[in-house]
Amino acid sequence: MKYSLSTLLFAAAAAVVSASPVANFENGFNMGAQNPDGSCKTTADWTRDFQVVQGWSTSTVKYNTFKLYSTNDCDTLKNAVPAAQAVGAKIWAGVWAVDEAKFNAEKGALEYAMQTWGTDWLAGVNVGSESLYRMEIDPVKLAIQIWDVKGMVNEAYKAGVLVGCADTWTSWVNGTNAIVIEASDIIMMNGFPYWQGSTIEQAKDIFYQSIAATKAVINGKPFMIGETGWPTGGDNFGSAVPTVDNLQSYWKSATCALQADNIPYFFFSTFDEPNRSAGVEQHFGVANSDKSLKISLAC
Ligand SMILES: *[C@@H]1O[C@H](CO)[C@@H](O)[C@H](O)[C@H]1NC(C)=O
Ligand SMILES: *[C@@H]1O[C@H](CO)[C@@H](O)[C@H](O)[C@H]1NC(C)=O
Repeated sequence: MKYSLSTLLFAAAAAVVSASPVANFENGFNMGAQNPDGSCKTTADWTRDFQVVQGWSTSTVKYNTFKLYSTNDCDTLKNAVPAAQAVGAKIWAGVWAVDEAKFNAEKGALEYAMQTWGTDWLAGVNVGSESLYRMEIDPVKLAIQIWDVKGMVNEAYKAGVLVGCADTWTSWVNGTNAIVIEASDIIMMNGFPYWQGSTIEQAKDIFYQSIAATKAVINGKPFMIGETGWPTGGDNFGSAVPTVDNLQSYWKSATCALQADNIPYFFFSTFDEPNRSAGVEQHFGVANSDKSLKISLAC
């Protein structure tokens, strides 16, 4: 379905008076769609991986929601939704918003999943992930795609979930992207003090500065962390050093602060992914690729 921008603006204004969708998810993790050998996860693989993470829940945090990066690549939703339903987990669906063909395939895969399995498994949706940061899309076009998906998810399928966008704090504070904030029900901030070259001692403060800067420009909209994390292998970046001790320290300082402050988050990432390009990108898991935890998740 396709709308003109003015229709969408009108629909968005009308939606404000009807019941707003609510955040109905717990904190969670970002999770990739590939096994360590690069094969796409089957329903059995997703089931096992969801159960492993559910087992990490603590007395204060239940890990039951999983943010997935794509709806269509690796048949992500086709394979993961039956797994989520089997173990009572929820999925935060990522819709790629780059070129039109990719966007339509992603939107189609989300629609197929809602048609087939209903919407109880769906925790929320982000349309676009750092596509503003990479300057891959015009902000007006991205806003139209967000409104388009919102119409499908909440009007056609009545899912009643938040539909927003995930991007870096630097993109959110850039006024050029204000229309994307307007289109989003929820602003998801990705922030990595590691990629800001921060020492581990300063990392939490630098992360919280980016949260404050983002919150200052989003007009009181719901806010959450789309991605944050700290790698345990690969090269130093400025003063940032990737070690297991530093991941533990980042969890204790930054993630535990998010929990204390009731800021919902999806940590990046769950398991190490040896199939990603060599270097730090392979080492962002709180667990190794054999799924054993590297650190304590206690706060
Ligand atoms: C990831 O896995 C795919 C499929 O097994 C393989 O073709 C590709 O070379 C792998 N990439 C890396 C970086 O290991
Ligand atoms: C803001 O975004 C625009 C468009 O993506 C870009 O050209 C500009 O350099 C950005 N401004 C800053 C301060 O980064």
